[in-house]
Amino acid sequence: MAPLVWLVTGCSSGFGEQFVYQILARGDKVIATGRNAATKLKHLEGTGAAILDLDISISPEKVALKVDEALKIYGSIDILVNNAGYIESSAIEELTPERLLRSFNTNVFGHVNVTRALLPHMREKKSGTIAFIGSQAGWKGDPSAGAYVSGKFALEGIVECLQKEVSMFGIQATIFEPGFFRTQALSQQNIRHEPGNISAYEEFNKAVMQYETAVYGNEPGDPVKAVSRMIDVLTGTGMAAGKPFPPRLPLGTDGLKVMRDKCQDTLKLLNEWEDFISSTDVTKEE
Ligand SMILES: NC(=O)c1ccc[n+]([C@@H]2O[C@H](COP(=O)([O-])OP(=O)(O)OC[C@H]3O[C@@H](n4cnc5c(N)ncnc54)[C@H](OP(=O)(O)O)[C@@H]3O)[C@@H](O)[C@H]2O)c1
Repeated sequence: MAPLVWLVTGCSSGFGEQFVYQILARGDKVIATGRNAATKLKHLEGTGAAILDLDISISPEKVALKVDEALKIYGSIDILVNNAGYIESSAIEELTPERLLRSFNTNVFGHVNVTRALLPHMREKKSGTIAFIGSQAGWKGDPSAGAYVSGKFALEGIVECLQKEVSMFGIQATIFEPGFFRTQALSQQNIRHEPGNISAYEEFNKAVMQYETAVYGNEPGDPVKAVSRMIDVLTGTGMAAGKPFPPRLPLGTDGLKVMRDKCQDTLKLLNEWEDFISSTDVTKEE
């Protein structure tokens, strides 16, 4: 079988970097993208990956030009991994519209823009696979995570619609929902804090930073294994061989628990309130 061509966003560290190594190891081709590629992706030079500078938060028009550039490298792209992302940490009351928009520019609009730019190519060849890295945060709210969580919830909706729109073109899409994994996501360097001036949140902000610092490096998930399983799903091989392509999939026991608890809690609530909820329909004529 001919090698597949992958495009991965956010390859300087974490899952993205790991995708690059594992895609190359299976004999496929990869376009590794990232911000400030000349410095941040320097360690990937010489690995066999094609390297492309791509900050996904730039304008849709600029993203489209970058995707065109990417398409010229190998003439085709089979699998897109929308991976880039970061945490904008803030209590909702301190979260300015500018910070929320900045978060969405990367964590939501960036992925939509890259996907939209690549879809004409995939539609034309009537095949393609698109993966999004969502999060357990797309299923559960947490303090100080409103910007990040709302972006991941938004991705859930976008991917669910996309799946229903592009299957007719032979294109499949999925969203992975990792729990906590040992990448740079929780490093203080990558989390953006800009505490506001509401003194009532001072202690809260300190506690949030202490929590992030305590979890960083102690996350239960292994990113090498997660990427290996994601590649299995996206190529229908290994542990995913013979299984139907999943519309979404949590990764890690903590990711599993978040999704299962949310489903069970929601079912419980629906059952407890069913009579109440059902009491608002238009009364049927006898
Ligand atoms: N690790 C976890 O526990 C976890 C759990 C659930 C979901 N996720 C998701 O997994 C994905 C990958 O994160 P990670 O865990 O591997 O963390 P990571 O090690 O911090 O990697 C994040 C990557 O995204 C890049 N990035 C951020 N903003 C970007 C932009 N505007 N344009 C292009 N690249 C950008 C970063 O580049 P720079 O080096 O330039 O900042 C970095 O390469 C993210 O979507 C994250 O939300 C992670």
